Amino acid sequence: MTDVEGKRLILVGPPGAGKGTQAKRLVDRLKVPHISTGDMLRAARAKGTELGLKAGALMDKGELVPDDVVIGLVRERIAEPDAAGGFLLDGFPRTRPQAEALQAALTKDNLQLDAVVFIEIDDDDVVDRITGRRQNPETGDIYHVDMNPPPEAVKVVQRKDDTENAVRTRLVKYHNETAPIIPFYKEQGLLRGVDGRKSPDEVTQAILEIIT
Ligand code: AP5
Repeated sequence: MTDVEGKRLILVGPPGAGKGTQAKRLVDRLKVPHISTGDMLRAARAKGTELGLKAGALMDKGELVPDDVVIGLVRERIAEPDAAGGFLLDGFPRTRPQAEALQAALTKDNLQLDAVVFIEIDDDDVVDRITGRRQNPETGDIYHVDMNPPPEAVKVVQRKDDTENAVRTRLVKYHNETAPIIPFYKEQGLLRGVDGRKSPDEVTQAILEIIT
């Protein structure tokens, strides 16, 4: 096992910071599952479950899904066998109650987080990144129409919540609800900041260095 394998990590940052992009690059090196609450909620919606349909209506507007719903999903997911040796959380926790619930669940099992990686970008960059994002629905690969255009042969789609209106609401939610978890983790000595304005390769390298 190398020194980056088997850790319990969180990626936090505003919409479009590059959490999904970095998670996909990191999981093979870290040998842990990528647990994205956004992906889990979109999968539930695609299956047409009641939870998924209710969540989807909130997501399209850029609103947050209620804490109890998301906390329940994550508690179950991190209890699965593939997460026993670590995990990479993306998009959770996103509120102070979610951070406290995660801490309680880990403490109950005598476990702890290794680090919380805060990918920082300016609000001005968020709208450009989000409205230009396209994704391959088969592989989940993430592109940007200008900065990282998809190959011609690859069919891509735009997420329903990647409109300018929804992203402005997501940014307000981020500042009001998610930003307060930053001091929560800073006080615990777990927070590690990364400059998300750098290239994807440079951001990956910076994350690997700080978690080693
Ligand atoms: P979620 O899917 O988690 O969305 P998000 O947090 O808003 O983050 P994004 O996926 O939009 O951005 P990202 O940081 O992953 O950036 P990406 O790598 O794609 O959540 C969606 C919704 O689900 C929420 O609004 C909420 O309704 C609900 N939800 C989810 N979790 C919840 C929770 N815990 N509680 C309550 N509700 C919850 O990159 C973006 C773009 O930038 C791409 O085009 C990419 O190519 C480009 N890019 C990435 N990195 C770089 C770089 N370094 N340089 C240049 N371009 C880059």
